[in-house]
Amino acid sequence: MSYVTLPIFDETGYVVVDSYDQDQDPREWQDLIYVDWKSSGDTRFSPIASAYGDVECDGFWNHTPAKTDKDGVWVPENVERAPRLTERAQEPGANVGRCRVIELQPNTYADAIYNLHRDDNNRLNVEGTGWIVRAFFNLTDNPDSMMILREDKDDPSTETRVPLPAGAQVVIDTQRLYHAVWHPGPQPRYCLITSLESGPELDTWISARNPVPRIESPAIDPVMAQDAYDAAEAKRAARAAAIAAQGKDPRFGDGSMAMAEDSVDSGMEVLSEA
Ligand SMILES: [Fe+2]
Repeated sequence: MSYVTLPIFDETGYVVVDSYDQDQDPREWQDLIYVDWKSSGDTRFSPIASAYGDVECDGFWNHTPAKTDKDGVWVPENVERAPRLTERAQEPGANVGRCRVIELQPNTYADAIYNLHRDDNNRLNVEGTGWIVRAFFNLTDNPDSMMILREDKDDPSTETRVPLPAGAQVVIDTQRLYHAVWHPGPQPRYCLITSLESGPELDTWISARNPVPRIESPAIDPVMAQDAYDAAEAKRAARAAAIAAQGKDPRFGDGSMAMAEDSVDSGMEVLSEA
């Protein structure tokens, strides 16, 4: 038994679809209720659908009763503030799990490389049902910002960089791909992120929007990139050493800056929901 997946994700793990005309909509993300959900000090989140409809962002598996990242309950306080964003999350017609807007403060490419992580979208998901992927709808116009995707966290040759102008829409298997956003700023970036169940509804929605499963990444300065890799590696080493000095397992961290590969997004989504 395995999960229901969509073939279009097989090759690369992501798909870019037609951009949305963001200018036609009000800037509802400015009206939402945000909660601190981080440990890096750089992000806040606004839940539009949460595990049980409360204004909180914990993983659905961390509630009682625990559940997988499906059947999110709409948060009344935010749905009334953002009816259009709610509609957009529902537009694919797929089962919706976590649905939230991220506010990401400016960072560097080195920060993004350090923040690369995979999500834990399918904990408690029942085999035979749809695999959870995540839709990223960029709300603010950030043409110089990029979603960094890597099949192998430590191999830059596996990297794809997806530009994030207003209206950019990309669906990503974030449990497969390491990801983080490089957002030079200067203003915060806002993005609607929705967990969606793979199945015929999502397939239809993607297929109707000229899906592109492999894009050409914008070039980056190779010297800057190498400096960023070195800086990120040094930061990881320093953190591992600090944790080891406390007698803790560096794979799992201290709970304040989760960088363990698969545990980063396991309810904390600390560094960059992306
Ligand atoms: Fe993530």
